[in-house]
Amino acid sequence: MKKLIIINGPNLNLLGKREPEIYGSQTFTEYLSEIKKKYMSLQIDYFQSNIEGELIDKLHEVGFNYDGIILNAAAYTHTSVGMGDAIKGIETPVVEVHISNTFGREAFRHQSYISPNAKGVILGFGLQSYELAIQSFLD
Ligand code: DQA
Repeated sequence: MKKLIIINGPNLNLLGKREPEIYGSQTFTEYLSEIKKKYMSLQIDYFQSNIEGELIDKLHEVGFNYDGIILNAAAYTHTSVGMGDAIKGIETPVVEVHISNTFGREAFRHQSYISPNAKGVILGFGLQSYELAIQSFLD
């Protein structure tokens, strides 16, 4: 069974409540249980943290024994050299996802320290961005 992990960065624990006009009104817990039911042939783990170092530690922990990492680094996407370096240092391919189309938003969201080291980038499809990323790991 393929082992994937979804890693969510800061403020994504507030999905469903946070700026619903941008991020939608569904909680990530609800969405994740739908996805797990739909892709029962995959192991899909989940980790969320608001703390940059914890996200880096998780990338190190899973980055040599998982088949794929689906990463929404949220605001750290635009600031974290450390997360970019972590992705460079691990073996598991990372697909970067964003719920919103970051290129249609403020200029500071156009910069990503994740993209240069990611296998691919999926953004702007709401929570469906995560499912599209999962599909990229199917045979
Ligand atoms: C986000 C976009 C980021 O710019 C923002 O800081 C987030 C969420 C997204 O999924 O659309 O927190 O990564």
